[in-house]
Amino acid sequence: MSPSTRPIPIVACLAGDGIGPEVMAEAGRVIDAASQLFGIRVRQVHLPFGGDAIDKHGDPFPSHVRAAVKASDAVLLGAVGGPRWDGSPVRPEAGLLGLRKELDTYANLRPVRHGAIDLMVVRELTGGLYFGTKTLEQDVASDECRYTRDQIERVARWGFRLARRRGGRVVSVDKANVLSTSKLWRRVVTELQASEFEEIRLTHELVDSFAMNLATRPQDYDVVLTENLFGDILSDLAAAVGGGLGLAPSASLGSEPPGIFEPVHGSAPDIAGQGEANPIAMILSVGLMFTYGLARRDIGRTIAAAVDQVLAEGTATADQVSGGRAYATWEVGQAVCRALADHAHGSGEFAADPYGEAVARG
Ligand code: IPM
Ligand code: MN
Repeated sequence: MSPSTRPIPIVACLAGDGIGPEVMAEAGRVIDAASQLFGIRVRQVHLPFGGDAIDKHGDPFPSHVRAAVKASDAVLLGAVGGPRWDGSPVRPEAGLLGLRKELDTYANLRPVRHGAIDLMVVRELTGGLYFGTKTLEQDVASDECRYTRDQIERVARWGFRLARRRGGRVVSVDKANVLSTSKLWRRVVTELQASEFEEIRLTHELVDSFAMNLATRPQDYDVVLTENLFGDILSDLAAAVGGGLGLAPSASLGSEPPGIFEPVHGSAPDIAGQGEANPIAMILSVGLMFTYGLARRDIGRTIAAAVDQVLAEGTATADQVSGGRAYATWEVGQAVCRALADHAHGSGEFAADPYGEAVARG
């Protein structure tokens, strides 16, 4: 099924915990404004998830939410977790990992654009330490790290394909001087580049020195391809050097829809409920949803351009403001909705189905 063929796409909105509901509200307004502008309809279905769903149903990812999500065209996610559930037998985060596994969204795209920085972290999302066998006893614990050739190839293909449309460069990040999984990772990525992506410039870096390079010269990188845990850590670092977590969106994609679109940031319980959370990462995730989830690159671009304008004008929440006035969450969302009209051109331009593209070569 191609997402663009459903006349009224269904978006499953999982607001979650902490600031999740506040930023999700702005996402909804941006979807509505963009829909009106482009003459489309989008159905938003709101569902409990994470800690909120634990409170309501005793399960962070209840079966009725699972069913609704699988019937949707795209999933928008706010944030999950918080100290409230520290003692809970099942954590909110388990819902998120369950969702990623259920939808097999193995490729996590985390773009960072800020000044001279324009990079894309491509993080493997459904393998490695997160999903290996785990043990926890009183005095000993273990997490298995396991990767197969197929798991590495399919995410690497996303990295190379994205590089083709971008700067043509991929850096693959691993710890091949120590870890077996990294040795396999490096071998598979090298072979794939040689057989299918000769025009892409591939380099390899070890994760420790790469972290240093990313912190000191982030503008040197194009596509950063890496495994699950390294990608988790490095994408926070990339966001931090790229204007902060308040600006960082993500798209998690599998071989077919729905994809998951969520900010890189967490639930920020310290500022939840105060109306001051930055909605930009969530709004940019809506942009990625239109581009990669609903095959409407034109709308995705318009949202990104509107966000650029709003940031340039200085309409920003406290995390982005030094000196000037800090705007409320709703004010920033409102400013983006207004700015959309200035950038809505080129309508009718459909992107190729990104899912079809990714699976085209197996
Ligand atoms: C992220 C988050 C999650 C992860 C947590 C909440 C499980 O940090 O999406 O980066 O580690 O993947
Ligand atoms: Mn993270």
